Amino acid sequence: MATPVNIIVGSHVWVEDPDEAWIDGQVTKITGKDAQIQTTNGKTVTEKLSKIYPKDLEAPPGGVDDMTKLSYLHEPGVLQNLKTRYELNEIYTYTGNILIAINPFQTLPHIYDSHMMQQYKGAPFGELSPHVFAVADVAYRAMINESKSNSILVSGESGAGKTETTKMLMRYLAFLGGRVATEGRTVEQQVLESNPVLEAFGNAKTVRNNNSSRFGKFVEIQFDKHGRISGAAIRTYLLERSRVCQVSDPERNYHCFYLLCAAPAEEVEKYKLGKPQSYHYLNQSRCYELVGVSDAHDYLATRRAMDIVGISEKEQEAIFRVVAAILHLGNIVFAKGKEVDSSVPKDDQAKFHLNTTAELLMCDVKALEDALCKRVMVTPEEVIKRSLDPQSATVSRDGLAKTLYSRLFDWLVDKINNSIGQDPNSNFLIGVLDIYGFESFKANSFEQFCINFTNEKLQQHFNQHVFKMEQEEYTKEKINWSYIEFVDNQDVLDLIEKVRSPIDYVNH
Ligand SMILES: Nc1ncnc2c1ncn2[C@@H]1O[C@H](COP(=O)(O)OP(=O)(O)OP(=O)(O)O)[C@@H](O)[C@H]1O
Ligand SMILES: [Mg+2]
Repeated sequence: MATPVNIIVGSHVWVEDPDEAWIDGQVTKITGKDAQIQTTNGKTVTEKLSKIYPKDLEAPPGGVDDMTKLSYLHEPGVLQNLKTRYELNEIYTYTGNILIAINPFQTLPHIYDSHMMQQYKGAPFGELSPHVFAVADVAYRAMINESKSNSILVSGESGAGKTETTKMLMRYLAFLGGRVATEGRTVEQQVLESNPVLEAFGNAKTVRNNNSSRFGKFVEIQFDKHGRISGAAIRTYLLERSRVCQVSDPERNYHCFYLLCAAPAEEVEKYKLGKPQSYHYLNQSRCYELVGVSDAHDYLATRRAMDIVGISEKEQEAIFRVVAAILHLGNIVFAKGKEVDSSVPKDDQAKFHLNTTAELLMCDVKALEDALCKRVMVTPEEVIKRSLDPQSATVSRDGLAKTLYSRLFDWLVDKINNSIGQDPNSNFLIGVLDIYGFESFKANSFEQFCINFTNEKLQQHFNQHVFKMEQEEYTKEKINWSYIEFVDNQDVLDLIEKVRSPIDYVNH
């Protein structure tokens, strides 16, 4: 970021600080390309002139609501503005027509109530304080006035607040396009209640976020010619399958497993369940409960949301039967069988879980045991059945658990889509994209690779629209402007997805 301002002795500047990110100070001496700075936290530091930035002394004490109003648009200036506003509980700030949201980590009900919704309805963009409702309002108005579909992209690292923001966007769109007092379930109610259902099955506690989305989601809300919500479609991407049988401390498996263990006693008994501590798929981590969350309450809330979405009582039972079956499946431990390289359920406990899994999945116990302990190979000449040793049987057990869970999730999404229904006559829609954010753990696996790659792609889309296309437009219209430098991640994408790249090999 080049700064066009001259820095001289006496200038107020920002300099990088290992603890504070940026600290302000005053230049006391300049020697060649270096400057000596006396910082406000009492340090004297020397830094290259090219790495220090002028401080805006005239910035209003409460910050500015649009970053384009800043005198200097550099990193410390932007961060300082966001910090000043955040300290005043102003979590939203514009940068032109982009909204930046900072996670408040506390409920701020007054900024999302129906009075607020009324205020933002139809208000010109930028007239009121920056708000997520204003973004949804612009998308909606543009759709009505120009008969054009729109999409809202929500991006940020894990725990930044994407899913919460997406829910606010959906609530506001439901408010704009909702019907006044109709009987029974409305489409908008179904759309909103699909969130807790999907979160119960697709979210989990990670190191970064107690309610981390482990799948990507694109919700298309369809509208009729009067601007009323007439249908919706939910597309999901890449559910993290490995979590079903592998959880590291202090994370949790998918919420639904803990919810079911905390269900009313008769349900728990029906599925022959016990405490989460007794299941291999849950007890690899010592974290079972979330602060401020009641799994028992959330179980009932999820069942209610399922009712609203249109999942029948019978279907709900079938869903939880599969959830319970997966927990029992994970407890089938194998020991060596009589023949070489064969395996059998280790003891009575393992047999109990095998029987219960078969009972819940309504399949034949022997067939299930064979599926786990034997491998079938079909050749043009014959069908070969080979026994598996305990280790391989465990791998096939975990494979079955992952496949069962991801099919259950896909089925759930299909069910929600069929139940809400699509409007074949809808002319336009608003899409909202909420994916899993960038993440980097102590040990990162293929899943993190895919998640971070998806985020890089989204960042490139953003770069294309915000920087590249905008600057091409300026050039075309011969507007006098100075090139804005930005970090282009195209090289990273090429490395990963071009010919002879890892993704290319996976695809072939
Ligand atoms: N606007 C908000 N108001 C109140 N709390 C919020 C808000 N945004 C986020 N939070 C809090 O932060 C937590 C994490 O937010 P959220 O789940 O939306 O993150 P995310 O960006 O979707 O992360 P991931 O990529 O892991 O899914 C929420 O569970 C909530 O407690
Ligand atoms: Mg999320």
